Amino acid sequence: MISKWFKSLLALVPLLRPVVADPWPFDVTTIAAPDGSVTAKFVSFGATMTELWIKDRFGNPRDIIIGYDNNTELLTDPAHPVFNPIVGRYANRIKNGTFSIPITKYPQPPGPNVYHIPTNDHDGQDTLHGGIYGWDRRNWTIVSKSPTSVTYHHLDAADEGFPGNVSAYTTHTVENGGVLKTTVHATATELTPIMLTQHIYWNLDAFQGSENILNHNLRVDASRVVEVDGDAIPTGNLINVTDTPWDFRTPQKIDYRWNETVGLCGGGCSGYDHCWIYDHPEDTNPGVSLWSDVSGIRVDITTNNPATQVYTGYWLDTPRKKVHGGPSLNYTSYSAVAIEQEGYIDAINTPEWGVNQIYGPDRDYTWSTTYKFSTVQ
Ligand SMILES: *[C@@H]1O[C@H](CO)[C@@H](O)[C@H](O)[C@H]1NC(C)=O
Ligand SMILES: *[C@@H]1O[C@H](CO)[C@@H](O)[C@H](O)[C@H]1NC(C)=O
Ligand SMILES: *[C@@H]1O[C@H](CO)[C@@H](O)[C@H](O)[C@H]1NC(C)=O
Ligand SMILES: *[C@@H]1O[C@H](CO)[C@@H](O)[C@H](O)[C@H]1NC(C)=O
Ligand SMILES: *[C@@H]1O[C@H](CO)[C@@H](O)[C@H](O)[C@H]1NC(C)=O
Ligand SMILES: *[C@@H]1O[C@H](CO)[C@@H](O)[C@H](O)[C@H]1NC(C)=O
Ligand SMILES: *[C@@H]1O[C@H](CO)[C@@H](O)[C@H](O)[C@H]1NC(C)=O
Repeated sequence: MISKWFKSLLALVPLLRPVVADPWPFDVTTIAAPDGSVTAKFVSFGATMTELWIKDRFGNPRDIIIGYDNNTELLTDPAHPVFNPIVGRYANRIKNGTFSIPITKYPQPPGPNVYHIPTNDHDGQDTLHGGIYGWDRRNWTIVSKSPTSVTYHHLDAADEGFPGNVSAYTTHTVENGGVLKTTVHATATELTPIMLTQHIYWNLDAFQGSENILNHNLRVDASRVVEVDGDAIPTGNLINVTDTPWDFRTPQKIDYRWNETVGLCGGGCSGYDHCWIYDHPEDTNPGVSLWSDVSGIRVDITTNNPATQVYTGYWLDTPRKKVHGGPSLNYTSYSAVAIEQEGYIDAINTPEWGVNQIYGPDRDYTWSTTYKFSTVQ
């Protein structure tokens, strides 16, 4: 039995703890491959990559991702373009912000095991990137770091109305020979959907010698793309890319059928914002390759994910980093292409696909992607 005076002493313990300031989530951590082939910078806010320096074919390093000079804008920029963080607990869109467990076609709240997440996209028709404060706008903490690696942790304590707690560890690593690797391991206390991505926006010229990504060469190892409605929600159909502007099975300039993309990514929008379903296990074959004939920089992406979102950045309008000619110039339409390794989008509302995105105490989630850099002549 604990005596009364001891209990009151215990009550004082929190007050006696040394006051430690919360770590500033915008502090930059730099990791670099010993051979100088890759230097990457991160902040713990969103486990976000803020700079990525790769040597071009002339041996000069370029920062090939877009972003901010002032990283607090990751939190404060009302445009919220999601520059290079980890996105969760559920990336891309959820129809009407609603799902059930087990999943069903048209879940109606309130109902047993029906969940509703704040809707923040298309005038409230869906939830985008995990809600208003998804994982990309949370303060992760540094667990460990070395000159070539950094690991961040985030506890999602039933945030945004998702069921149960999810504990996630993200590790970013660089290696000699132009390798950048990101892995995420997540465990959940209850049954919950989990579908993550790393939302990197590439411009392999870094605005030296070209202004946009329309002339980048793109290859996507996918013969099917998810058909979406006017709110970018899957209809359930998969489109065969043969003879369509979605066919990048052989490498093409991004704009090779640009005129035919008018309206494909929403009203008034040109370009792509689509989910391609990979044809092969992409952890051994690159699922996506992207290179520029201007800088010569090439990236080959391998992943354990079954799909990839390619968004050609129609809606961008944000002051550029100084190194990209900012802040008087903005990133605008097609300044960069986001290539996001992910699961089938909104599979939790598309039971006909038979894709299981429900994780829990007996099923951990792992996301893993490797970016291999080289140069073309
Ligand atoms: C960075 O942005 C924040 C929020 O927008 C602002 O309060 C701060 O003054 C900025 N810092 C600098 C150095 O411009
Ligand atoms: C969307 O969700 C809201 C809030 O839970 C619900 O009232 C409404 O019926 C849902 N709409 C559709 C079309 O399912
Ligand atoms: C994250 O850190 C920022 C800056 O220290 C702080 O303003 C904010 O309240 C923190 N967010 C949460 C959810 O703790
Ligand atoms: C979920 O996280 C909250 C906040 O840290 C904690 O109070 C709660 O005990 C956790 N629940 C479980 C089941 O781990
Ligand atoms: C796509 O259509 C082509 C031409 O009709 C056909 O040969 C191919 O098998 C189809 N691919 C898929 C994945 O359905
Ligand atoms: C695309 O449309 C523009 C304007 O209508 C036209 O000038 C151009 O030739 C077209 N390009 C292709 C590849 O069809
Ligand atoms: C750049 O973007 C900001 C934010 O959207 C906008 O306020 C500003 O007018 C834009 N600047 C230019 C030069 O277009």
